[in-house]
Amino acid sequence: MRDCKKRTNFAGCFIVDNYTIMFGKLFKSKKEQVKLFYNTDVHCHILPGVDHGSQSIEQSLEMLKAEAEMGISRVILTSHVTAVTFENTRETLMDAFMKLKDAVTDAGIDMELYLSAEYRMDEYFDKEYAADHLIPMPGNHILLENSFQQELMNLDELLFDMQVKGYKTILAHPERYNYYSRRRKRYEQLHNAGARFQVNILSFTGYFGEEARDSALWFAENGMIDYLGSDMHNVKQAHIIMDYINSKEWRKLSRDLEQTVKNDMIL
Ligand SMILES: [Fe+2]
Ligand SMILES: [Fe+2]
Repeated sequence: MRDCKKRTNFAGCFIVDNYTIMFGKLFKSKKEQVKLFYNTDVHCHILPGVDHGSQSIEQSLEMLKAEAEMGISRVILTSHVTAVTFENTRETLMDAFMKLKDAVTDAGIDMELYLSAEYRMDEYFDKEYAADHLIPMPGNHILLENSFQQELMNLDELLFDMQVKGYKTILAHPERYNYYSRRRKRYEQLHNAGARFQVNILSFTGYFGEEARDSALWFAENGMIDYLGSDMHNVKQAHIIMDYINSKEWRKLSRDLEQTVKNDMIL
């Protein structure tokens, strides 16, 4: 037990008649973290130093510990690949991946890691796709991101072309593209055309605004969520997700989501 040298400036214990009492012994221990109903996170920015997600190995390890607390044991690392801002290549991603894998082993964290990416459909993607440089998830799944301003002009053609080539296309966080919220029929068209939908848990929390939350709930009500993702960029977001999955709303929602979500089938 730590000694309290001063009565006034030591947080964590206090002195009563020369006996030191730890606060932790006095108060109820923290409520146990609720686990997710699946074990595979298919979307996150935990790979260090390659986008605006984790900026260091230490941050990555903290994020992976948070994933483990939520019951995740397999993480697919999906760093951004975007024109100009994050022009990652197979080499930049693989280099960071090997470093993180070593650090995870050294830290004794029990977590399976897989390398893939979140591809923004832009001119850089066109080049990488044409050169056959994409890094798919297991099962040839590819996580694709639309622009937040407008839908890609030739989205249908691209999805068709990719599917013909054997890719299984997953649209990242469709609930966050607000230009779809007044024409949700479009979601149905895309789903019927073979695109699968990955919704962010953070969207349910209102983190991306009311419109994204409403859309996320619409996806859930309509049984159109194929995958859930943390899309976590930092430890703070991990904690928001952890708090949310402890909520009554999530408990109710997850009963329906279990019917359609296939995260663990991706591997
Ligand atoms: Fe994204
Ligand atoms: Fe992302």
